[in-house]
Amino acid sequence: MKIFIEKDYDALSKKAFEIMKETVSKNPQAVLGLATGSSPIGLYQEMIRDHKNGGLSYKDVTTFNLDEYADLPKDHPESYYSFMHTQLFDGLDIPEESIHIPEGETEEDARRYDELLKPADLQILGIGHNGHIGFNEPGTPFDSHTHIVELTERTREANKRFFPDEEVPRFAITQGIGNILKADRILLVASGVDKAQAIADMLKGENPEVPASALLSHPDVIVIVDEGAGSLIPEKN
Ligand code: GLP
Repeated sequence: MKIFIEKDYDALSKKAFEIMKETVSKNPQAVLGLATGSSPIGLYQEMIRDHKNGGLSYKDVTTFNLDEYADLPKDHPESYYSFMHTQLFDGLDIPEESIHIPEGETEEDARRYDELLKPADLQILGIGHNGHIGFNEPGTPFDSHTHIVELTERTREANKRFFPDEEVPRFAITQGIGNILKADRILLVASGVDKAQAIADMLKGENPEVPASALLSHPDVIVIVDEGAGSLIPEKN
């Protein structure tokens, strides 16, 4: 695992874009694993800025998103389908048919997404306060596949800000940790001091109570944090 501590969110996002650029320049048909949440928004803005300035084209990439709320209509403004279109896809040239976002609320829907999935050349990840990746909450087996999860209270609380006038969704469909680990390369981004504990816990050793710690077994993981999220990383890293 390579760890980069950048001075702020802007620097972190630029560094993350360098990795994205390297992947897509080398292989214009790359499979990209994409994540939602506020953490990768800066990276997505860099991708759009570069693309609009005549940089990379994404017309031949294929994308697979990590997760989606199960009990929310796709056209809801807070669905991950809406998020990805607003924050990234509307600004790039990826054909709609090359974009995959999980949907559904049954294990059968999950199995179908699992069959569609191709291992990512580059998998983007954020991290939850409790160390979750995608919506793999603490205790999820490290070899799990796409499945339906009931969100923890902590996760629902964190996502409440997006649902001021209605109940936060209770269920989600998410790629499993086993799917995530199949990527060739994984890029995790985290910013802000409220993520510092999750980052420090991830580095303590593999522990099913900290889903992100599964990444320690992967041969090519890049972690980019800002000074806040990196503030509890022990010296030796
Ligand atoms: C959600 C998403 C995760 C994301 C996490 C952190 O739970 N399912 O994929 O990593 O939120 O979000 P943020 O980056 O907004 O802190």
